[in-house]
Amino acid sequence: MGVAGSGKTTIGKALAQELGLPFYDADNFHPQSNIDKMRQGTALTDDDRHPWLTDLAAWISRWEGEKGAVLACSALKEQYRKILQSVENITWVYLEGNSEMILQRLESRSGHFMPAALLESQFAALEEPDYGIRVNVSSSPAEIVAKILSKVKMMNAFEFGLIGLGVMGKSLALNLAGKGISISVYNRHVEGREEGIAAGLIADNPKLPNLRGFDNLGDFIHSLARPRKVMMMIYSGAIDKQLEELIPILEAGDVVIDGGNSFYKDTIRRADLLAEKDILYLGTGISGGEEGARKGPSIMAGGSERAYLLMAHYFDLIAAKDQAGEPCSAYIGPGGAGHFVKMVHNGIEYAEMQLLSEIYYLLRHFLKIPPSEIAGIFSEWHTGELNSYLLEITIDILRKEEDGELLLDKILDQAEQKGTGGLSALAALEYGVPYGPLAEAVMARTLSAMRSRRLTAAKLYSREAEATATDREALLSKVKNAYSAARLINHQIGFSLMSEASLRNQWELDPARIAAIWTNGCIIRSVLMEDLALLLTEDDAILTSPVWVPKMRGWQQDFADIVALGLQQGFALPVLSSALNYFLGYTSADSPANLIQAQRDYFGAHTYRRRDKPEDQNFHTNWINI
Ligand code: 6PG
Repeated sequence: MGVAGSGKTTIGKALAQELGLPFYDADNFHPQSNIDKMRQGTALTDDDRHPWLTDLAAWISRWEGEKGAVLACSALKEQYRKILQSVENITWVYLEGNSEMILQRLESRSGHFMPAALLESQFAALEEPDYGIRVNVSSSPAEIVAKILSKVKMMNAFEFGLIGLGVMGKSLALNLAGKGISISVYNRHVEGREEGIAAGLIADNPKLPNLRGFDNLGDFIHSLARPRKVMMMIYSGAIDKQLEELIPILEAGDVVIDGGNSFYKDTIRRADLLAEKDILYLGTGISGGEEGARKGPSIMAGGSERAYLLMAHYFDLIAAKDQAGEPCSAYIGPGGAGHFVKMVHNGIEYAEMQLLSEIYYLLRHFLKIPPSEIAGIFSEWHTGELNSYLLEITIDILRKEEDGELLLDKILDQAEQKGTGGLSALAALEYGVPYGPLAEAVMARTLSAMRSRRLTAAKLYSREAEATATDREALLSKVKNAYSAARLINHQIGFSLMSEASLRNQWELDPARIAAIWTNGCIIRSVLMEDLALLLTEDDAILTSPVWVPKMRGWQQDFADIVALGLQQGFALPVLSSALNYFLGYTSADSPANLIQAQRDYFGAHTYRRRDKPEDQNFHTNWINI
């Protein structure tokens, strides 16, 4: 753009040639009436220009849908440029020059319908843009073109693309941009619901020039340097549709990352689909909530190793750091390994949350300790081995008041869930891993959600219990031990689920590394996780490790006392009791499963193996004489 005689056609043609794009001259799109008017030396009015610009805007959209184009157009006023801006991805190049030099050029030009006398009106109309590329036209055309090309390249080679500006997407985008990464963000346009989301983020962050926003997917993709790195931060139910839109506009070698909580089997299926087009796929679990995403999450990448090598730099840059200063980000393994591990993270998270809820409830309603004091007790625990992010936020929650009253008491006691806990429980069933505490954590949420039934039933079965004051101190220390024991069991189960899945899928998961990237950034970060990062090598059997056996022995009786007492006094303790059951079953040399085997053989001739015979032989007994 620029006034007549600034060199738009010459520069535009050369630029188009360099970029391998078609060139168009806006003058050739004028209606005859405008051309006649200019020939007669009459300046065009805004009304004359309007149909011409609207027509050009339609052409620009069409070119954009092809491979783009270079257009030479005066576009002197901001309002003209607004009409032309039918697609977001326009790079404006303003050719500026002083009137004397341009007049000289115009006077030496022949065969053009724009007389030099009109130049004055052009300068009068000119509103210089304060965006895009500005080049002075006093140098040679070759130099001007080179200058524009280098700036275009800089502008159009954004390193990272992020789709979905919900809570997590927005925070990750700001994290990346804050670290100096040039990032294009895209959020779909949904009339009346999601409008101008990307533009809003850009407007809210004027100090981040390396952040660009789009609500047109094609423009967004074209703004990225090849191979493109596109991360989706969207609801897992929307991934397939998003991929359908992306696949046709991506190219071989591009990388797509699903940074949400997708089910790992979906991730495997999607990776295979994209592999057909040689597009690389990473199913990447990202934990840490809004704050983690903004300041440093824990990142679990799985899938294409080639893709990971391209992404590792970005992940390491934005991830939280562990105690040794290493990024809490790792390549977990092939296929769906990253999302599987994130799913188990959430399984552990569910059980930890439910455990804390059970403990809080016992302290408050059995030991009758007021919430502010419970916060104090938890703070004390937090200074030692029980230190964890979930305990920390629970302390804050127990202190949060609204209008002088505890906010917690105003929150409806119906837990919701997005499903990752349940998926972990399903995976445990599929891989044959006992995972009672997790399943109970999921079921406790489900049961809590049946509020109206609970209210009806509660009226039919009343109960009230109170520990005596003298019991309190002793009980408190037992509760602490029960909580410590149950947490350890919950973690053992989570790691054993991962190791079983690893074996079956040949993922070669590294439990110590997984624990290490869970020591910071993620929701289940804790001192226990730091210990596990040191302890877990190839062995996931936490409960039989010499480090933990003496501790568990010390906690065992208190754990059983608290579960027994709590249940007896009428408190539901699904995760605490399930963890105790797991522990008792896991540490029993003798189990009643021989009776199960006998029953199976009795009614279904399913056969059994014997203690007194080689274990690879099967036996059947005719249990009754028919
Ligand atoms: C995380 C969280 C996150 C998710 C929660 C909530 O690691 O940052 O796990 O992924 O928001 O798991 O899930 P529910 O809605 O199922 O409780």
